[in-house]
Amino acid sequence: MIWMKKDLEEQIKKQAKDRLLIIASNREPYINVFKEGKIEVRRPTGGAVTALDPVMKACGGTWVAHGSGSADRKTVDGKSRIQVPPSNPAYTLRRVWLSKEEEEGYYYGYSNQALWPLCHIVYQRPIFDATHWKFYKKVNKIFADAILEEIGKQKAILWLQDYHLALVAKYIKEKRPDIICVQFWHIPWPNPEAFRICPQRKEILEGLLSNDLLGFHIRYHCDNFIETVERELETKIDKEKTSIISGGHETVIRAFPISVDFEAIGRKANAEEVKKSALRLKREIFPEKGLLFLGLDRIDYTKGIPERFLAIDRFLEKYPQYKEKFIFLQIGALSRIHISWYKNLNDRLNAMAEEINWKHSTGDWAPIILLRQHISYDDILACYRRADVCIVSALHDGMNLVAKEYISAKTDNSGIILLSSFTGSARELTDAVFINPYDIEKFADAIKEILDMPATEKKRRMKSLRRIVRENNVYKWAGRVFEEIEKFWL
Ligand code: G6P
Repeated sequence: MIWMKKDLEEQIKKQAKDRLLIIASNREPYINVFKEGKIEVRRPTGGAVTALDPVMKACGGTWVAHGSGSADRKTVDGKSRIQVPPSNPAYTLRRVWLSKEEEEGYYYGYSNQALWPLCHIVYQRPIFDATHWKFYKKVNKIFADAILEEIGKQKAILWLQDYHLALVAKYIKEKRPDIICVQFWHIPWPNPEAFRICPQRKEILEGLLSNDLLGFHIRYHCDNFIETVERELETKIDKEKTSIISGGHETVIRAFPISVDFEAIGRKANAEEVKKSALRLKREIFPEKGLLFLGLDRIDYTKGIPERFLAIDRFLEKYPQYKEKFIFLQIGALSRIHISWYKNLNDRLNAMAEEINWKHSTGDWAPIILLRQHISYDDILACYRRADVCIVSALHDGMNLVAKEYISAKTDNSGIILLSSFTGSARELTDAVFINPYDIEKFADAIKEILDMPATEKKRRMKSLRRIVRENNVYKWAGRVFEEIEKFWL
């Protein structure tokens, strides 16, 4: 069965019955910003929001998130609520307000300088700072209070997202043990050896074990989590059921590989607005002839962008006959730039692109275009449509939805994907061409391999990848989470 929007709608209506469905994440799905005196709506980049917005559109309910946009306060009602999407409201967004100090400690600090590098094994040393931790706890409480206020006296299913909110379930259960708490961890869970350096590990684990259901993308992350708990806490592990009993409370652990809205992306990729975007991009950026390679990421050190540049450089050193035959377009959304690691990465990418372009350019051709600006979703889809090759070279990634979006947009079965073996999506997208982003020599050879690959073989692979993403779309992901909730608690 292929899960459709309406199947999920029915399933959740049947299960939730009189319960409010409430989602909470740090990042909000719609951001209001002031631009040139007007208020604009921005859609943030990032996997969690991309996957959950279609789910909420299908099911309704309330989404609690940090109001981070410059015009966010201007657009809410007296209870900090706004109906979204603005064009066609389907659910409520409840914004939570944080002071600069709170955002600094909780978001830039503990979430992104401790937990993010701790869980992504890319050899970036985490920073555990007592003040960051203090604010992480404080903001998790602020979220829990806002959630409880939204729920009021109702029954509810609370679906928490990601590493920013590891303590929320604990604060909720202390006041309302009847609320069903589910958490999905969107990033990898490391092995116990890596996790044990975290000074706050017990509190983090106890927080997560306050949930009734805890989800990761892949089995491997579930196993890592269970082994970590075994090592750190006195608990009972039920291997049969794959659950952990801690202080009399049971948490079921499951793998749910996240995905995208395959049909909607394909439909939109063929829409008039995207065709218009494509014509403009053809004039402004796309190569007139020759191939387009595409990289599309938040600029983050886990995404392996320098490695991509090095592979292009090595590829041209080894195979100069490909000069002028392609352009590599790297689109990067600026992200977390108050953190020096991110600022330095941006500077490094500028320098690398400049140097590689200088080294290999001929006439008016240069191999790399680095575009670092917010680009519209129509433009992104136009890029997917035009790109002959999509390069996803993350050093470590929970899933990576760019790979799945690219495949969904390729309704004509064209294109090919170079995919890092260290992404969660590598487990499913078995017809991609795999790379180890640390091995620049083989990475460069993989670029050559796909360029020389017969068209029939490329088409076969894309067809098979499209079948996989069609069958395992975001509605199935959310549907499976709710099936699990029904099995145990409804
Ligand atoms: C990852 C995380 C998400 C996060 C996204 C964007 O995908 O798992 O929770 O929203 O990155 O990062 P940002 O810090 O901008 O929210």
